[in-house]
Amino acid sequence: MILAEGMLKAGSLTGKNILITGGGTGLGKSMGRYFLELGANLVITSRKLDVLEQSAQEMMDEMGGQVLPLSCDVRSIEEVERMWEDAKGRFGHIDVVLNNAAGNFISPTERLSTHAFNTILDIVLKGTSQVTLTAGKDWIAQKQKGTFLNIVTTYAWTGSGYVVPSAAAKAGVLAMTRSLAVEWAKYGIRSNAIAPGPFPTDGAWSRLLPGDLVKKFDPAKKVPVGRVGEHQELANIAAYLVSDYSSFVNGEVITIDGGEWLKGAGEFNNLDQVPQEMWDMLEASRGKKV
Ligand code: HXC
Ligand code: NAP
Repeated sequence: MILAEGMLKAGSLTGKNILITGGGTGLGKSMGRYFLELGANLVITSRKLDVLEQSAQEMMDEMGGQVLPLSCDVRSIEEVERMWEDAKGRFGHIDVVLNNAAGNFISPTERLSTHAFNTILDIVLKGTSQVTLTAGKDWIAQKQKGTFLNIVTTYAWTGSGYVVPSAAAKAGVLAMTRSLAVEWAKYGIRSNAIAPGPFPTDGAWSRLLPGDLVKKFDPAKKVPVGRVGEHQELANIAAYLVSDYSSFVNGEVITIDGGEWLKGAGEFNNLDQVPQEMWDMLEASRGKKV
């Protein structure tokens, strides 16, 4: 199936050292696996070292290459700075940072405690800014080029009820992506983002569609192309954006959602529930022969 096929030619990422936050699970792991296949070395980080170690071994067994697992809670600047030094200690330098770690859950906003709201802001916005600042300062000081790729969501610009802390934080990450694309381009640092639509992962599905919700709200039904995403489709775009083929792409956010947000955003999109007979009646009522 072509959706599950890699798109870039072999060796496209050879020589690149790529750090992925949240790289031991879900989409981070899928993107990492493809980067490895294309010749990169990886550093994968998150809070759970056991999960990272198991994923690193799996990825190396499957793809070859080198994967360094490092525990790091992105909410702690001390842990982020230590992780950055450890990553450089192993590979000498890091060329690409993929800010992918996130936390999220659904809840009516008025039911959220301040701590719950702040937890999501801290992981997504503060965590991404701490990793970005640590890497960016070092790249600038070392006069080294670098690339940021940040995973956001389409509700970063539309907003969305029931995931308000996540929407606010992802909007901040998107603003940071575009701002630094301009400010840090003079140092040879590019910043881009990807906004995925629904891609099945244990982490997102269990938190955003808990219990029976997954049966009631089939995510595929909201997508005009009628399906959810394949991980490789996302990995193909990510690999392009961290490769040198995209050297002239800077400050961009690429949406890969099968048209989901446009359908959800249009006020009259739900008229696709109107049956043909009713359209016939409406046409007839304005005098057109059907
Ligand atoms: C309301 C909740 C809650 C929930 C936790 N809290 N879950 N409030 N509804 N479902 C509250 C807690 O009561 C607590 O507040 C505060 O949040 C912190 O909770 P902890 O469990 O102590 O936090 P922590 O252990 O740091 O875990 C963080 C987490 C957890 C975000 C709550 O779910 C997690 O570790 N997530 C990481 C992975 C993840 O979320 N992946 C999905 C990304 S998907 P109080 O006041 O009680 O102390 C994604 C998709 C986007 O982003 C778009 C899809 C289309
Ligand atoms: P996931 O598997 O739950 O990924 C989240 C990762 O972040 C986990 O590996 C988690 O590992 C890590 N993480 C969470 N809190 C952290 C912290 N404080 N410090 C460091 N790492 C932390 O879910 P996913 O679906 O693959 O999501 C990956 C990215 O895609 C996220 O940015 C998400 O917002 C985005 N996204 C996903 C979808 C989708 O449909 N799946 C859609 C739009 C956007 P630990 O628990 O070990 O820390």
